[in-house]
Amino acid sequence: MKTKYQVIDLNHYTEADLAEAGRIICEGGLVAFPTETVYGLGADALQEEAARKIYAAKGRPSDNPLIVHITKMEDLEALAEEVPECARKLAGAFWPGPLTMVFPKKPAVPYGTTGGLDTVAVRMPSHPLARDLIRVSGRFLAAPSANASGRPSPTRASHVKDDLDGRIDMILDGGEVNIGLESTVVDVTGEVPTILRPGYVTQEMMQRVVGRVEIDRAILEENVDRHFVPKAPGMKYRHYAPKGSLTVVEGEEEAVIREICRLAEEGVKAGKRVGIIATEETAGRYPAGMVRVIGSRADEESVAHGLFAILREFDDLEAQLIYSEGFGEQGLGRAIMNRLLKAAGHQVITAGGEKV
Ligand code: TXA
Ligand code: MG
Repeated sequence: MKTKYQVIDLNHYTEADLAEAGRIICEGGLVAFPTETVYGLGADALQEEAARKIYAAKGRPSDNPLIVHITKMEDLEALAEEVPECARKLAGAFWPGPLTMVFPKKPAVPYGTTGGLDTVAVRMPSHPLARDLIRVSGRFLAAPSANASGRPSPTRASHVKDDLDGRIDMILDGGEVNIGLESTVVDVTGEVPTILRPGYVTQEMMQRVVGRVEIDRAILEENVDRHFVPKAPGMKYRHYAPKGSLTVVEGEEEAVIREICRLAEEGVKAGKRVGIIATEETAGRYPAGMVRVIGSRADEESVAHGLFAILREFDDLEAQLIYSEGFGEQGLGRAIMNRLLKAAGHQVITAGGEKV
């Protein structure tokens, strides 16, 4: 299949420019589009066959459910059997935006979209292009991140092209995304809202709106118990993995820098291509290896924004060994470390300590 590539200037486009993309969606095809978090791979959420195509294009396991994207609260009533009060409050505070909520599904939502579950994940994105595509097509868009399964999520249209060219009908290039990490996923089907995937909207932010909010056990435990099945089906698969071997080095800053310098030098001596994920504050401290800046420690949003692109860059550079500084787990740091640890397959070193 030939993938159409359309560049959209966010400051100058009209709904007419999205006519072809809208038609493809209605006909059951696949269109990649930007959201405020990462690029999504969209299909009509209520056409089971269209949802199936998403799994095939990504090489995604079919039991990993999709998020359904909407533009208004009435849309939610069409998808969710029941919308609890806490969900209305969370929607009031964070929609449109990077929050996904899990509800009991209405029968109209096919199991092909929910990975066989009786629940459906719903998000109302804030990105104008995402919203216009939903409106122009007149459909709800089932959309996972638009990467090949297991690869880092795409934050630019070129990342989508690298992974899915020839496998999908169209890519809408709306430039670089804003946040760079996927939405927070929160299950609102139980007594207490429970975070299944940390993201830009933090536990603290939600607690201010609805009081108690818990975090799923699988996320809290660094070494997930092998017998424990995480509630978000997507959490059990290897994710975001760069081609090289990534190790996160945690600990006090000076000890981390010393340890990464030592490991990088060792790798270079052994003839390996070594990559280092550093910050603006520390990049000048590494004499050996290919040093790249993920963002500034003083600005966690910049780190979130740079994370997936840097993992892809090290693939392009054919890095064999990659060492990353660790980050604190407060606020947005929890989501950053969650993605980084998954990318590393939980290979973590505590500087001055031992391998976990
Ligand atoms: O920011 C985002 O959420 C992006 C953009 C495109 O909106 N989408 C995204 O989708 O990250 P995806 O498919 O890569 O991740 C969806 C996550 C997975 O961890 C999945 O298991 C979980 O949401 N999820 C979806 N439906 C669920 C359900 N019914 N119950 C529990 N978890 C669910
Ligand atoms: Mg994904």
